[in-house]
Amino acid sequence: MAINHLPAAALYSHPSLARLWKKVHLSCSPFYRRPAVRRLYTQPTTVLRALLRHAPYNFIALGCAEGLKESLLLRKLPKPTLLLTADTCLSMAKIAARKLSARDKIARQIDLTSPSSISRILTPPISHSKSKAPSPARLITLYGVLPNLDPLPLLRCLAKHMAPKDLLLFSTNLAPGENGRRGARRVLPQYDNPLTHKWLQGVALRTRPRLSPGFIHFGVYPDPNQSSLSRIEARWFVGNKPTHTLFSSRRPTLYQVKSWIQTSGLTRIHQWIEPKGEEGVWLTTRKA
Ligand SMILES: C[S@@+](CC[C@H](N)C(=O)[O-])C[C@H]1O[C@@H](n2cnc3c(N)ncnc32)[C@H](O)[C@@H]1O
Repeated sequence: MAINHLPAAALYSHPSLARLWKKVHLSCSPFYRRPAVRRLYTQPTTVLRALLRHAPYNFIALGCAEGLKESLLLRKLPKPTLLLTADTCLSMAKIAARKLSARDKIARQIDLTSPSSISRILTPPISHSKSKAPSPARLITLYGVLPNLDPLPLLRCLAKHMAPKDLLLFSTNLAPGENGRRGARRVLPQYDNPLTHKWLQGVALRTRPRLSPGFIHFGVYPDPNQSSLSRIEARWFVGNKPTHTLFSSRRPTLYQVKSWIQTSGLTRIHQWIEPKGEEGVWLTTRKA
């Protein structure tokens, strides 16, 4: 029997689920538990300051939740002219817009699995002004989203909508080491804990059509679109049969991230990897 995969947006589809996710994040995420992981989100500022120092720029935060990681970055960068925060959960995008500083601000709902939704956010409006001033460069962040969504179509779509001087800064979780399966199994205990179960039970309760009574089980499986890529999945079991994947988090190796960048039409400018090799941040631009 085929296993139904819930869209990642379903995990944050109600403010109560977004609040439960935030609790999970606050108490389980390596971002809070390990300073080396937090540092990943300030380290790019030196390179970015050098790249952005000559002209005004706009800042676009995709899948930003409440904008915590973006705030660490923006604190050390010149103030952007325009800030656009976008998430499937509009209430979180609005909180992010309030938190981050910029001359002008917009918060929008976006579906990062939909090319037309991405296009609406990233295609600059046609200017009717007579001024010949070039449009400002855009710094686009995409933190913590690639583990949840199919990475290649998303990166390709973003690359397609980037102007040559735009920058894309993204983060992803990694499978430490060279063997993806083994690396993913090593980090599995970070997910299988009571708070994450409570969040996902909440997701299961809100799923329609209703799920048959069952239980959650975590494991490591191949990604259906890229079998060499490992995914940590929380599956809903009814008896001994999995019926739904409630949650999944991709764990690429460093080599796999390198190949995503190459095949999606991007070029790497810099990368920062935390010492345990479980998370990294990449600064990229569109391939010339
Ligand atoms: C794991 S959280 C990461 C949040 C934050 N950027 C961070 O790194 O802490 C994933 C984020 O992506 C958003 N998201 C999930 N599916 C989405 C979709 N299809 N379109 C837009 N945002 C989505 C969620 O609402 C959530 O804010």
